[in-house]
Amino acid sequence: MKKSLFIVFAFISIIANAQKSNLVLTSNGPVQLMAHLQDDGSFVYSVYYKGKPVVGNSSLGVVLAKPELTLTKFMLNGVDSSFVNQSWETVWGEQNTIRNKYKEFIFHLSDQQTNSYFVNIIFRLFEDGLGFRYEFPKQKNLQYFILKDEATQFKMFGDHKTFWIPGDFDTNEYAYNTTKLSEIDAFTASKKEKDIAVVSLISPNAVQTPLMMKSSEGLYINIHEAALLNYPAMNLELNKDNLTFTSVLVPDAVGNKAYLQAPFKSPWRTIIVSDKATEILASKMILNLNEPTAIKNTSFIKPQKFVGVWWEMHIGKATWFKEGGKHGATTENVKKYIDFAAQHKFDGVLVEGWNTGWEDWFGNWKEDVFDFVTPYPDYDVDALTKYAKAKGVKIIMHHETSGSAIGYERRLDTAYRFMINHDMNTVKTGYVGKIIPRGEHHDGQWMVNHYTRVAEKTAQYKIMLDAHEPVHPTGLHRTYPNWMANEAARGTEFNNAPTLGILPEHNTILPFTRLMGGPMDYTPGLFHFQLNQFESDRKQKVNSTLAKQLALYVTMYSPLQMAADLPENYQKHLDAFQFIKEVPVNWSATKIIEAEPGDYITIARKAKNNKDWFIGSITDENARSLNLKFDFLDKNKKYKAIIYRDSKDADFATNPEAYTIEQKIVTANTELLIQIAKGGGCAISVFEIK
Ligand code: NOJ
Ligand code: CA
Repeated sequence: MKKSLFIVFAFISIIANAQKSNLVLTSNGPVQLMAHLQDDGSFVYSVYYKGKPVVGNSSLGVVLAKPELTLTKFMLNGVDSSFVNQSWETVWGEQNTIRNKYKEFIFHLSDQQTNSYFVNIIFRLFEDGLGFRYEFPKQKNLQYFILKDEATQFKMFGDHKTFWIPGDFDTNEYAYNTTKLSEIDAFTASKKEKDIAVVSLISPNAVQTPLMMKSSEGLYINIHEAALLNYPAMNLELNKDNLTFTSVLVPDAVGNKAYLQAPFKSPWRTIIVSDKATEILASKMILNLNEPTAIKNTSFIKPQKFVGVWWEMHIGKATWFKEGGKHGATTENVKKYIDFAAQHKFDGVLVEGWNTGWEDWFGNWKEDVFDFVTPYPDYDVDALTKYAKAKGVKIIMHHETSGSAIGYERRLDTAYRFMINHDMNTVKTGYVGKIIPRGEHHDGQWMVNHYTRVAEKTAQYKIMLDAHEPVHPTGLHRTYPNWMANEAARGTEFNNAPTLGILPEHNTILPFTRLMGGPMDYTPGLFHFQLNQFESDRKQKVNSTLAKQLALYVTMYSPLQMAADLPENYQKHLDAFQFIKEVPVNWSATKIIEAEPGDYITIARKAKNNKDWFIGSITDENARSLNLKFDFLDKNKKYKAIIYRDSKDADFATNPEAYTIEQKIVTANTELLIQIAKGGGCAISVFEIK
């Protein structure tokens, strides 16, 4: 269809006689959907934004291995449509209330050849994008079935600038690449990576989602998935001849994709689009496509800040294991952390290396490395339980599984009872290395089900969960609000990786990619930048200024935020540490002030329980001037702003610790010009003057 003709149609918002016709053409705000069955039986959809093509004539379908069946040519048996406009309250998050407003279309299809296998394609059209999924209704000829492939396509209209990481079945801890679509080269990119535990590349043209693109006309397009349950994760394979992505599902050990039983609904495939980058970050479409909370009583779920016996192992001050005389998780050392947490009002202390098994946890691929209940002899778990309780601090449990999800599953109840008996209600899990023993991948159906089982089981024990090395998040924190954060991307620990480390632009890309699926346990807050404090030959350094480390608490939303550095490094800068102490982890409102993927982000958030605001602004390797208008503040009120900014001579490469703190009275009319250094940032607390 010609573009001009399409625009006319879209304006009058035709929902072409939904019951009979094979065409749906409709819009919700600026986003338009066209979906129909072609003469040859293939089912295609297109997405437009304000009349501009976003995704065009892309076909949908699935291929089954058992029964052997290709479901890509259909008959149409009817179309249902409905409209939903409601709002819901978050348990925690970036805002109190979320509007969920969409038009839904269900295409009832059956296979063209025999008309005896049924599949529905469900579209939900929002004002900021489109979600669609496959549904296998209950039916006679398809009860248990094995999925061989999903033939979902996304045809792009242009050689967009793209922020991508290599497609991979096991890891998402890559540095981001920024190239045109036609220049994607996952193999070359991955060759530069030397510090990732397991790499399972797919093909030179495969990338992971959330995938962020920008067209030459200034459209921002994000592709991902929502509600990934009982199904493998989706990667995308690009055909460079026609700029069309096809879904690549993560296989199991014998190459199948999923073992399913009808009725079944696939995860949603999501396309978020806007001509403003800020609206991509503000989108709540992925959360809206997830089911409401499955946890009835959510009162045990509390956003929190924590410190931990953690970074000292990563930078060589201490070890996870007992031998070697540098064990970090000793009773004495953990008491120091508890004291520090109590003094500065942190909720928790993460303790890694408290339990036996770390001597040979890595690379041996054993099923029973850890039992999750046996402390090292120099870790007095009972004494520390009492000590922490007396100080009003919670110890955060660490369950590294070293890839033995099977071993962990057998011990979940024992491990969580041990936690409850020792007054712990938050666990950080980990899946470093190959998943053993059956050759599954981190992102396949089996592990997706494992992560979900852990979320459900922790909820039964009223435990909050933070998973490291999991599949990419897809908004499931709406359904399981105790599953508060995940790693699932390159986090702070990679500052310590010898090869690529973390480049200043990384934090300006993550919110547009990884964080689209949910909060990240990024562990910000490093105050010491040359990482040779304990091993003098260590070359690694943190590519950030100190002020930027503060700003990350606002720009990288998570209800679990760590202050990652060592207490002794915070002691040297207690004035700047004040911001980490004060910044909330739960918000009533969020305003994305300005953003450009790869370049900069500025966000203001309003505290959950009072009228204070906190602002974070970050840049990439380029210095910039931030022209900050405080027009989000209540009119007729006065506020005290404390500004933590880069000093004039700050620079992530040469002078990262140079910061300046100043106070100003601000109102809704205030405008400030703030200089941000190369690799720098700015954090501001804005307290209401009563
Ligand atoms: C990788 C995790 O991301 C990190 O935080 C943890 O310290 C190590 N694994 C050890 O479990
Ligand atoms: Ca840049």
